[in-house]
Amino acid sequence: MTEAILLVGGKGTRLRPLTVNTPKPMVPAAGVPFLTHQLARARAAGVEHIVLATSYLAEVFEPYFGDGSSLGLHLEYVTEEEPLGTGGAIRNVAGRLRSGPDEPVLIFNGDILTGLDIGALVSTHRSSGADVSLHLTRVEDPRAFGLVPTDPSGRVTAFLEKPQTPEEIVTDQINAGAYVFRRSVIDTIPSGRPVSVERETFPDLLSSGAHLQGMVDSTYWLDLGTPQAFVRGSADLVMGRAPSPAVPGRCGDRLVLESATVAADAKLTGGTVVCEGAAVHPGARVDGSVVLAGAVVEEGAVISASLIGERARVGARTVLSGTVVGDGATVGADNELRDGARVWCDAVLPAGAVRFSSDQ
Ligand code: GTP
Repeated sequence: MTEAILLVGGKGTRLRPLTVNTPKPMVPAAGVPFLTHQLARARAAGVEHIVLATSYLAEVFEPYFGDGSSLGLHLEYVTEEEPLGTGGAIRNVAGRLRSGPDEPVLIFNGDILTGLDIGALVSTHRSSGADVSLHLTRVEDPRAFGLVPTDPSGRVTAFLEKPQTPEEIVTDQINAGAYVFRRSVIDTIPSGRPVSVERETFPDLLSSGAHLQGMVDSTYWLDLGTPQAFVRGSADLVMGRAPSPAVPGRCGDRLVLESATVAADAKLTGGTVVCEGAAVHPGARVDGSVVLAGAVVEEGAVISASLIGERARVGARTVLSGTVVGDGATVGADNELRDGARVWCDAVLPAGAVRFSSDQ
């Protein structure tokens, strides 16, 4: 069966401070490192051999996933000395691939949550005879993405980076971060220097006449690159809106891992997950949020669409919405933090320090 490369070496700057101590693919979503969901989905599609292309905080992957046998996989790890970018990372692991020159190799960005039919992407690749096939998804506002227009047969006609003017928005199809490469095409990527697959490899292949095929699959798709998206993705996994065989429990309104303690009258809703050893005290309400291992939510706190880092503490009656609290940070009692606030790791906010409204 087809083998795969997973790109997991990015710095994850948009997700800071969640990615200060933890690389993005290892931040827990629905109770397990996000990467677990991708590995489990690839395995369910029949992939057995996966090479992880690591760079930033590379040392944490192997101790957690080992040889992959617990997931029924054979995992290998390759670490870049200097970050090589997405294309350079693909080229750098080529020596570990077992496929023959014409066989397909799957490649996944390590931060995409999707219900993509992986088998259908490989079938499209085989039947179209393409050199590279790309999963495309449609978005309402394509301005933050790379656009990929196709002709009526699905063949890619251009790669347009982050369009700004209305005339530049020629399609709502974007690169969804999953590809199939003919093995021999990987060997043509320059080695030993940074290469962006999106900005360099794909446009170069197109201008040299290669056949790039797009496959639009409009199932669930979310790029977990920002804190809001990450929190939403975790909640969608918990509620079963996003498919994954790796959610550690039954899908529903909440997921409470063993060894977490939740007071009887605390209210957990909207796909909230409470991880190992975390505590939610009486009267607290937590909606659509992630409470990581060892964190404490004190009495009467009201939290929505937020992520509480490992061992962090949210004080009594504090209100958080759309907020990230970094690992080990303390937000004292009676604070109010709203959309986009990021409390850095180990920071301490005294009681009553920040409000967005007058005190009642
Ligand atoms: P931001 O810094 O927030 O943009 O995140 P990022 O560093 O993850 O970058 P981006 O989202 O563009 O990366 C897409 C995918 O490629 C992610 O799965 C990254 O882990 C991966 N990636 C990006 N750069 C590198 C690299 O230099 N080496 C490797 N191995 N993977 C990379």
